[in-house]
Amino acid sequence: MRIDVVSIFPDYLAPLELSLIGKACQDGLLDLRVHDLRDFTTDRHRTVDDTPYGGGAGMVMKSEPWAQALASVAAGNTEAATKPVLIVPSPAGERFTQAAAHELAAEEQLVFACGRYEGIDERVMEWAAEYFTVRPMSLGDYVLNGGEVAVLAMVEAIGRLLPGVVGNPESLVEESHSDGLLEYPVYTKPSSWRDREVPAVLLSGNHGKIAQWRRHEQYRRTAERRPDLLAEFDAAKLPRADRTAF
Ligand code: ADE
Repeated sequence: MRIDVVSIFPDYLAPLELSLIGKACQDGLLDLRVHDLRDFTTDRHRTVDDTPYGGGAGMVMKSEPWAQALASVAAGNTEAATKPVLIVPSPAGERFTQAAAHELAAEEQLVFACGRYEGIDERVMEWAAEYFTVRPMSLGDYVLNGGEVAVLAMVEAIGRLLPGVVGNPESLVEESHSDGLLEYPVYTKPSSWRDREVPAVLLSGNHGKIAQWRRHEQYRRTAERRPDLLAEFDAAKLPRADRTAF
């Protein structure tokens, strides 16, 4: 997969060179390129923003540097058979979920446009729809200073789903949100620590009982922390053997 990120703070994306995603790039599983939006300006001051029409606080990102940057990124990948997806991180976007991460992991090319200030001139997204599938996406109901931190999160969530990135693909199966519930609690040695014991069932060696206990814990935890998820949860979608816990 190819991922392009356009930002006025390319250094913000440096952590993507670390850990699993950095390794995926080294191994050729991911072709990640970060671009400086200011390289696509034409004035002496490398201006990327201006005051908003209609008044109001803050500045708005100008359309032309964005059009130049996005056109360059789209033209740079002549091999793509489908339109790349342009993800615009924004608190006004659709929610980025694990399901969205799976969907996006199947794409050939993703482009992230990191807005700053009050956002990007809306006409950029209209214009870009000719060359990209445009998806404004939000990490959650809170406001960040710009799209860069959201891109770090989204690229990690998407990148780890690419074949070969996570060493043991089994670990992708039993984790939070993989089946609509939160993950069960986990423990490691020692079995007794500061007067706290690991739940006895986990030491029993009875795999059926362990699986059932874990399912119950997932359910209990989800009910306590995320009742909104439980409202949408459908046990009928689980494999038959797993349904007995509910
Ligand atoms: N940019 C600013 N706030 C954001 C959020 N909540 N999600 C994604 N991008 C953002």
